[in-house]
This record gives sequence, C-alpha cells and structure tokens, in this order.
Amino acid sequence: MKTAQKIFEAGSRRWYAIARDPDRPDYLIDTNEYLVVDGADAMLCDPGGMEIFPAVFSAISAEYDPAHIGGIFASHQDPDIVSSLSLWLEFNPALKCYCSWLWAGFIPHFGGTAETFVSIPDEGMEIVQGRLRLRAVPAHYLHSSGNFHLYDPAAKLLFSGDVGAALLPPGQGGLFVEDFDAHIRHAKGFHQRWMGSDAAKRDWCERVAKLDLDLLCPQHGAIYRGADIERFINWFAELEVGIVNAAPAS
Ligand SMILES: [Fe+2]
Ligand SMILES: [Fe+2]
Repeated sequence: MKTAQKIFEAGSRRWYAIARDPDRPDYLIDTNEYLVVDGADAMLCDPGGMEIFPAVFSAISAEYDPAHIGGIFASHQDPDIVSSLSLWLEFNPALKCYCSWLWAGFIPHFGGTAETFVSIPDEGMEIVQGRLRLRAVPAHYLHSSGNFHLYDPAAKLLFSGDVGAALLPPGQGGLFVEDFDAHIRHAKGFHQRWMGSDAAKRDWCERVAKLDLDLLCPQHGAIYRGADIERFINWFAELEVGIVNAAPAS
C-alpha cells in the first residue's frame, strides 16, 4: 500500500513523497509521486499511471485534501508519469497540467482539453500556483527529448524525474539512500540505458551542481540527501551513458 510520507516541512510549506508500494503487482515499475503543499495551494509532481491512481489518491487523501491540488507537473510523457491524467481531471476538471511544449500535443491523448495544458518552453520557466513558486529546470534527453525537473528554492528540493532513479530489489524499501555505494549499483544500468546523451548529462550536472539542494527526489527508488546529492552528481558526470554504452544486448 502506498503512503504519503512528509519529507520536508517549514512554516506552511510541505513536501510529501507518495512512495513506495511493496504490494504492487510485479509487472508494474514502482514509482514515487510527490506533492508540494503551501496552505491551500498544492501541486502534484508526476502523478503516475492510471493503474495506480486509486493508491495515490487514497495515500494523499490520508494527509491532505486533494481538492486543493491545482496543478500537475509532468516531467515528461511516459505512461508511468502521467497516464492517470484523465482520472485526476474527472476529480477536478479545472486542473492545470504543466509539461514540455514538445509533448503538449501528445499528453492530451491521456485526457484534458486545450484549457488543461500549460506548455513549458525549452529554457524552463517559473511555475506559480498561489503561494508556490517553483522552477521548471531543463533536463532534455534525460531521458525524454522534452524533459523538465522541478526546483523548489524554499525547500532546497529538486524533483528529478527519472534522473537518480534506482531499481531496488525487494526488501530495499527505505525512503532515503542510506549507503550510497550499495545503492548506486542499482542505478547504474538504468542510467546507462535510459539516458540518451552524454552532452545532455554533462549540461544537467553543471546546472544542478549550482542549485542549493538538501533533497534530490527521483521518480523511482530512494531519495538522496545532503552529501549524497553531490556524490550522485559526480557519479553521473563520470558515467558513460546513451549510445556509447547502451547497444541492446542481443
Ligand atoms: Fe520515463
Ligand atoms: Fe519513470
């Protein structure tokens, strides 16, 4: 069963990770959804697939009134990211969905109308939702060709989509990375295969190294804190990714 766990709180600002679900069927990749809240303003990051909508909705409802969620941030177009969109829109037809302009004609295949979507330009933008002031940070080709991460300067938190993801074996269900070297083994193959461009990777590492960060929150696997964030950026910068390494095994 998914639960919403508070990972940041200061004043009225809170972040929740709707993570991990040991009871999900084996054939679904496990995902983390994130909810950022400031009083009655809230945004949901990568709400997940339609298959897990009931689990995500009930986990959020235990901690926060989902009627206050005004926006959905979709880092990219994948089914595990945002195929639940039509179900969220059934609950609240006024929801806005923020996504790359590149996918603005594709994601509506999951649901929504012209009024639903707010296109993010390639250079990123500020996303303002009531008291929330967040920044869409470019992460193109990591792995999607139109891809954004979401930075909250108030929480020093970066939601990093598939970057930082680890496919952890059963029994390793901890919310946070506790032993970086042991953890990162489960991230290596994922990044080598899914991250398509070494140039994009170096660009991202330079950009993110400049951010003031306490938490790096991926869409799969455990959350990086403190010094493990710099360890991850350095590890990723050194890793050969994409076409150099990722010819599928025959
Ligand atoms: Fe993805
Ligand atoms: Fe993913």
